[in-house]
Amino acid sequence: EAADLQSAGINHSPTSPFKGMYFCSRMLLSQLNLCILNKLNKKEILSNIDRTRVNINIFDQIDSTNEESKRIKINSDIHIIIAEEQIKGKGRLGKKWSSPNLGNIYLTIATLKELNDAPLSLITGILCIEALKNFVTDGSLGLKWPNDLVFANKKVGGILIEREIKGNKNLSIIGIGINFDLQEKESWWGDLSKYELKSKRSKIINNIILNFIDFIDNGIYDWQSKWEDMCIHMNKEIKILRNNEITDTAIFKGINKEGKIKIFKNDEEKTIEFGEISIKGIYK
Ligand code: BTN
Repeated sequence: EAADLQSAGINHSPTSPFKGMYFCSRMLLSQLNLCILNKLNKKEILSNIDRTRVNINIFDQIDSTNEESKRIKINSDIHIIIAEEQIKGKGRLGKKWSSPNLGNIYLTIATLKELNDAPLSLITGILCIEALKNFVTDGSLGLKWPNDLVFANKKVGGILIEREIKGNKNLSIIGIGINFDLQEKESWWGDLSKYELKSKRSKIINNIILNFIDFIDNGIYDWQSKWEDMCIHMNKEIKILRNNEITDTAIFKGINKEGKIKIFKNDEEKTIEFGEISIKGIYK
């Protein structure tokens, strides 16, 4: 530092006003660098991706990336919408998805392609975990049914699937939110700040898109067991909720080919048609 100051012709006596200015500008520069490095980068997001098949829009701020996908004309296999901030971020079951400008992922993949019958929400969970696993290598990420991304017993990401009819085609809207930094009060929310992934967001999104393209081109092999391997509550006691009321308690046994829950109760295995689940020790 002293040599730097000297070569900059700055007197580094403790009282010099230049010294304070010098350190201030260095701090500002490093902050600026951080902002630029952390910004979403289109080139990185599209690396190794066939650009004739993918369109992309990146916004500093938007109401909701899912809503934007309903407004635009889709004329490529996949249309990607990403935002640094959402002011009306939407969660499942009519809930709000908190979406501050803090370096998180707010991503929508929209496609008019006919997708096979496998449950898109569960498949997307698998594709996201597979992409994140390249960056969080300690095996600590998992899935909670139907499609919460979980780390250290806290929800760090979620998926909102919507569908719309466009002419004679189905528009599939796949909204993905992943929290790298969240200032939420509720105790069940978590983030992945420990892994310092903000500057890797573009690479992570690139991996998610590549996984999605592979899925629409080739399908996904053995998705049920892949999902079950990623599930954090296999063979654990779960509570089944309907309208926020606990209606049953049973052992979670996995998912069937429609993505519905299989449970074990009173010596028999059965499938649950609808409802939410809560698991003891998770999100508390
Ligand atoms: C959930 O409730 O778990 C689903 C959350 C989905 C949030 C994402 S963020 C990008 C996309 N745009 C939205 O408004 N919501 C989804």
